Amino acid sequence: MCDHCGCRAFGPIAELTADHEHILELAWEVAEGEWPDEATHQAARDQLNRFLDFHAVKEEIGLYPLLISTGDLEVERCEGLEAEHREVHDLLERAAFDRRSYFALAAHIEEEEMELFSASRFAFDDEEWEQMDQAHHAAAHQFGMPHGHDEDAGVPARHRHDDGRVGSR
Ligand SMILES: [Fe+2]
Ligand SMILES: [Fe+2]
Repeated sequence: MCDHCGCRAFGPIAELTADHEHILELAWEVAEGEWPDEATHQAARDQLNRFLDFHAVKEEIGLYPLLISTGDLEVERCEGLEAEHREVHDLLERAAFDRRSYFALAAHIEEEEMELFSASRFAFDDEEWEQMDQAHHAAAHQFGMPHGHDEDAGVPARHRHDDGRVGSR
């Protein structure tokens, strides 16, 4: 976890950090938990996979390209991180996510928190934070995730939806 540079203070970074905590909790359960039957275990894998996909989309349309645009992330390294997203997705789909997969996922998350989040803190201005908010908002709509539409949540009260509708809901 990055507790040094204050990057948690920025809304979208705090959101990704909270996602990471949720992901690691679920992932440990999936890898090491005791499950009464295969159907329950499968449901947990599906739940984790869906949340991971949502989180990965936020990073892949928000944090990563924005860090590339400020010169703080190389395209090749970005592709590597995106490949790791796909890999976890595949492992879960094949019911092959184990303790080793968990530690690989934790290393991916640590790299993001220690290096990418810290870099964004220094590289991003209001414009990038606003774009990151919009990316997270777009991902929430894509995945049908509940989310706020108020200033406190870092999302403009009035905004344009993907379908062209402008509104506060
Ligand atoms: Fe990631
Ligand atoms: Fe992440």
